[in-house]
Amino acid sequence: MKFSGFSRDLLTWYRRAARPLPWRREPSLYRTVVSEFMLQQTQVATVLPYFQRWMVEFPDFRVLAAAPEARVLKLWEGLGYYRRARHLHQLAKIVAAEPGRERTPEGWGELPGVGPYTAAAITSIAFSARAACVDGNVVRVLTRLTADESPYPDGVSAARVLTPLAEELLPAQAPGDHNQAMMELGATVCLRRNPCCLVCPVRSYCAGAGRGAPEAYPKIAPKKVERMEVTRVWCERRGSLLLHRTHPDSRRLADLHELPTAEQAGVKKGTGPLLARKKRRITRFDITESIHAAKPAAVRSGEGLVWVPWAELDAIALSGPHRRWIAELRRTGGPAMPRSARGKSEPLLR
Ligand code: ADE
Repeated sequence: MKFSGFSRDLLTWYRRAARPLPWRREPSLYRTVVSEFMLQQTQVATVLPYFQRWMVEFPDFRVLAAAPEARVLKLWEGLGYYRRARHLHQLAKIVAAEPGRERTPEGWGELPGVGPYTAAAITSIAFSARAACVDGNVVRVLTRLTADESPYPDGVSAARVLTPLAEELLPAQAPGDHNQAMMELGATVCLRRNPCCLVCPVRSYCAGAGRGAPEAYPKIAPKKVERMEVTRVWCERRGSLLLHRTHPDSRRLADLHELPTAEQAGVKKGTGPLLARKKRRITRFDITESIHAAKPAAVRSGEGLVWVPWAELDAIALSGPHRRWIAELRRTGGPAMPRSARGKSEPLLR
């Protein structure tokens, strides 16, 4: 057996070297579920303060299930991919309604927001189920381990093809620790660039390191990047700022507020003075967003438009970059910024 001893050596290292993350220090089903949702597409360092705040306000499934959705989104604000927060909230309602019910990995996979990776992570960590987790980090470890020359069209297909190998490596004892050790190795040793092979606990098993070219793996086709231009509107009226509240069913930003696009505000593109130009990358899109000032009279009514008084801005859920842009524009004085906040939020512009 080429890999006999692999998991033993990996686990010995993990138990000595793993970062003492809060969901590892005091594990529970709830903490495992929350951490796995937050860690989807997000790095550990970003998640840590969110996880701590979340546990103070929503200490278990029952409290989370009873919380208003606006509060759940507010605590998620800045983590991005907001559908995760809504799914986690729905999941908490389902689990809290049947507290004693046991679920198989397949059963967990049927809950909102739980894909194969998250189902394997939750059930292996919380119930010692023999289910292998394969995310981007684990794909990197496995393809290096076997010097896998196969070209993969994307990470998802690589994960699918590599799952049998991940299962082969999985021990009967402590599969949850083994899965976390694979993630930890990918996150701290088997890095995308400049992997630390000299301190790797499983280097003796690694064909990629043996060939002196671990960075050559995995062979995944680069994502095609698409450029996008978005024009946004900055419009103030009597101590309120015009925002757009995304439809609750939206994939990316359900129920979250943003500066409206010109289309949402019914304003002709790029007419008012340019206040700021911002670039960001969301998934495979390179987006340039231009923020132009508009007069209230230029705005036409539209679904989801809301006037939010300055004093209420902190209380609503705003997408992270938009909160930064708004603060920056107020600070650096885009158009004249009122000092005081007056009036109540008007639900819809009419
Ligand atoms: N990424 C996904 N799940 C994780 C976990 N349990 N620990 C660290 N990183 C992770």
